[in-house]
Formats: sequence, C-alpha cells, structure tokens
Amino acid sequence: MDSKGWSLKGSLLLLLLPDLLLCKSVASLPICPRGAANCQVSLRDLFERAVILSHYIHNLSSEMFNEFDKRYAQGRGFITKAINSCHTSSLSTPEDKEQAQQIHHEDLLNLILSVLRSWNDPLYHLVTEVRGLQEAPDALLSRAIEIEEQNRRLLEGMEKIVGQVHPGVRENEVYSVWSGLPSLQVADEDTRLFAFYNLLHCLRRDSHKIDNYLKLLKCRIVYDSNC
Ligand SMILES: *[C@@H]1O[C@H](CO)[C@@H](O)[C@H](O)[C@H]1NC(C)=O
Repeated sequence: MDSKGWSLKGSLLLLLLPDLLLCKSVASLPICPRGAANCQVSLRDLFERAVILSHYIHNLSSEMFNEFDKRYAQGRGFITKAINSCHTSSLSTPEDKEQAQQIHHEDLLNLILSVLRSWNDPLYHLVTEVRGLQEAPDALLSRAIEIEEQNRRLLEGMEKIVGQVHPGVRENEVYSVWSGLPSLQVADEDTRLFAFYNLLHCLRRDSHKIDNYLKLLKCRIVYDSNC
C-alpha cells in the first residue's frame, strides 16, 4: 500500500482508538468481538463509524477508478460507452438526497444492506483479476484489497445497526447477483478493459450513494433530523 493509504488508515485507527482500548482487538474493529459483554457500542457510535468507513470506501473507490482510467482507459473512449448499467441497478436506489428523504429509514437501511451484499462477490473477484492485469500499478491492487475488506466491515457494522434499530426483526438477505466475471476474463483486451472500467465506475457510484444514505440516516435516526 502507498503511504497515502497508510496515513489514511492511521488516522482511521486513531479515530477508533477508544474502541481499541476497550475491546483490545484491532482485528475486530469497528465491531466488538462476539460475546464481549462490556463492549456494547451505542447506536450513535455505530453510525459515526459506519459513516467514516463509507466515506473511506468511497474515497478509495474514486481513487481506484481514477488510477485505472489514467493507466488503461486513455484514448479508448470508454467514457462515451459507459452505459449506466450496473449489476445493482435492479435494486432501484434513490438517485439523490430528495429521493432518499422520501424513503422510510427501515427501507433505506435494508437497501444499504442489499447494495453492500451485492458487492461482496464482485469485490472478491476484482482482487483476483486485478492481480492478473498486465503491469497493474501496486496502488490499484492495494486499493482493491482494502475496498474488499472495508466493504465487509461496513456490512458487519450495518448488521449491528439494523439489530439495534429493529431488534428481533429478521434482516433481509436480498442482493443482486453479479455475473460479470467472464467479461473481466475475456481475451479481447479492449472488451476486457471496458468491463473493468464499467465495474469500477459502478463501484464509485454505489459507494457514493451508500455514503450519502448513511449520512442522511445518521442525521434522521441519531439526531432526530436536527442536523
Ligand atoms: C481521498 O482522500 C485523500 C486524503 O484525505 C485526499 O487527499 C484525496 O484527494 C481523496 N481522493 C478523492 C478522489 O477524493
């Protein structure tokens, strides 16, 4: 990982330090280890951490997209071909803040869970396929690895939040299936690189949406809309 990435990670760890002291476990951040009785995290703290994480993931996704664009997409006209079709499109997520405001917080929480779950599989494969990219810059791979890990962490955090907001309610297991692996492996270079481009474009878009939804939900649920 490059130094910028580490310093960001370092500042994240600093922010989460109280949790470190309490739970004595770095690996389980930002979630308490199972069964740690004195490690009940307040809803407010869970939201604070989720927002920091989602912002971090969006930052990484944007940087990864820019990196890929600079290294592989120049002069290929991908931007004009980029159809706004993502595997998560079927989840019909609100496009902007106004639309999101109209949605009941329970549904919005479920939507976030669904989008995060829908990225588990493609992010896993993205790491493997970026490894196989010719002359891939280190920054690209390190970001792919970091995004995959942080996405799983955010999903765990969101499950905790849903568990506190609606205790006892069985959370949804809905997600969109991704079937884009063959397109990341196709022999034709132009087609293959465009598949990467499109996937990273979608990742940047979805991570931005999640970041926005979370900020909105934090305001509504934790601060009773006084923010
Ligand atoms: C990501 O965060 C770093 C550190 O705060 C910042 O310098 C960089 O501009 C951000 N990148 C994007 C694409 O927003």
